Amino acid sequence: MKWWQKTIAYELYPKSFLDTAGQGTGTIRGIIEKLDYLSSLGIGAVWMTPVCRSPMVDNGYDIADYTEIDPSYGTMEDMDELFAKAKEHGIRIVMDLVFNHTSDQNPWFLASKQSRNNPYSDWYIWRDAKEDGSAPTNWRGIFGGSAWTWCEKRQQYYLHTFAVQQPDLNWANPEVRRALYKAANFWIDKGVGGFRVDAITYIRKPDVFEDGTPDAEDGSVSIHDMTANTPGILDYLHEFKREVADGHDIFTVAEANGVSADELQYWVGQDGAFDMLFEFSHVNLEFKGIETWCRPDPWELKDLKKALVNSQTATKDNGWYPIFFENHDKPRCVDHFFKAGTDPKKAAKVIGMVLYTLRGTPFLFQGQELGLGNVKWPSIDCYNDISSYGQYDFAIQEGFSEAEAIACVHAFSRDSARTPMQWNGEENAGFTKGKPWLPVHDDYAVMNVEAEEKDPDSVLNWYRQLAAIRQEETVLTEGDFSELMKESNEVFAYARSKGDQKAVILANFSDHEVTVDPDLIKNMQVKISSVKDHAEGVLAPLETVLYISC
Ligand code: NOJ
Repeated sequence: MKWWQKTIAYELYPKSFLDTAGQGTGTIRGIIEKLDYLSSLGIGAVWMTPVCRSPMVDNGYDIADYTEIDPSYGTMEDMDELFAKAKEHGIRIVMDLVFNHTSDQNPWFLASKQSRNNPYSDWYIWRDAKEDGSAPTNWRGIFGGSAWTWCEKRQQYYLHTFAVQQPDLNWANPEVRRALYKAANFWIDKGVGGFRVDAITYIRKPDVFEDGTPDAEDGSVSIHDMTANTPGILDYLHEFKREVADGHDIFTVAEANGVSADELQYWVGQDGAFDMLFEFSHVNLEFKGIETWCRPDPWELKDLKKALVNSQTATKDNGWYPIFFENHDKPRCVDHFFKAGTDPKKAAKVIGMVLYTLRGTPFLFQGQELGLGNVKWPSIDCYNDISSYGQYDFAIQEGFSEAEAIACVHAFSRDSARTPMQWNGEENAGFTKGKPWLPVHDDYAVMNVEAEEKDPDSVLNWYRQLAAIRQEETVLTEGDFSELMKESNEVFAYARSKGDQKAVILANFSDHEVTVDPDLIKNMQVKISSVKDHAEGVLAPLETVLYISC
């Protein structure tokens, strides 16, 4: 097995991790200061969301220079020190490659927009207006509004899958691809442990650009439905692998919305372009089609189980599964997977158990180890996230009231995952001595690292215990997966087995007691349970138990 199959990864949101400069935003020195903390969680890889130079319209996912550190985070010397000190801690640093688009302040785009015949003219996706002067197609960007923006100077429109300030690169141009691979190799030379590759399903555009069937009141269609996973994309991805990843002891994990299980073999594994692929079926249960927050569909535990089991089955022989329940784009899991009013501590432990015992590499997201929940700020003006504004406006345009629209923001805003890390009960949760760029969560006085370290029953200590068990019981990293209690709509149950070693995991997502068939746990011993007085043969409400064969 490779090192990254046995480790636990931590997704770190640098802007909200620790500010050592009193400026209200996190710094690289803050990460260096907390390496011992990350080690105490058993972390072997830290995926940092982008820290390259950026105007921060999308908090770093709009890159102005791929090989410079944004001054708000520190310097390249700080970054070099982070690589070196992390290595001493047995931690590899994983960078985020944002290669579908750049910032509109990137010198490549600044040059491209000047004229139709300069060396960078063809580095982005430019098209003429329709005869009536309107945008070339009716595509809607993922953050809302048209996916096209008019450029006076060139008298053309440019395409942006995300915000206006994030123009899409033209991957059909080999010079663009070469420049991107060069940037990735710059970080390989610095010693990265891997790459998370952003929004990669959008890089290949269709040969012909056409209007799609509208899916919204304004006659637009989501760009996702028109450009995601366009045939021919794999040629680019395999080239990326050859030019960047091959021959290095790193891992690659693609953010790849919309890749089906049948296509998986071409994306990951021995003949695939990446080692792992983040797919979103289990965290997008409420969005059967496109992700419009105002129209969530109801779902049940059996839907979540089905999505997770499908991913386990699909990756059994193809690649390796990156397990996650939270990231910087998703709601906090305690609010996402449980009904309102559920005890967040119990809920957090249930998710923690599944995260650390499915087959794959767990990706723990900053703050998840404390059991944090969503923020529910009173008005849209309190939010920072660009997509929250887009989704709010979309809801209003679709006829929802302001109260309904803000309720959707409470449920799905990306800001919930991005509030400052809660280190202690002091002002601003110990995150900054300045004014935090995003308010600290109200619960910080109780839910913070310092307080949870002292409480043996805390979510933080639960994660530490699970990490130690994962280290000790190799069946949890190496064992095969098989589902148990398939029909249950209350309990997610499965076994991991390797030779005569076996583990059984029971996770009761419901708020009532459930009886367990004694045959399932015959000759097994309780290794850990989330309740103090575990009773044999039953699961207490929201109890989760790990059994290991005797
Ligand atoms: C996916 C990233 O995770 C998200 O945060 C970002 O806004 C978009 N890609 C655009 O880069």
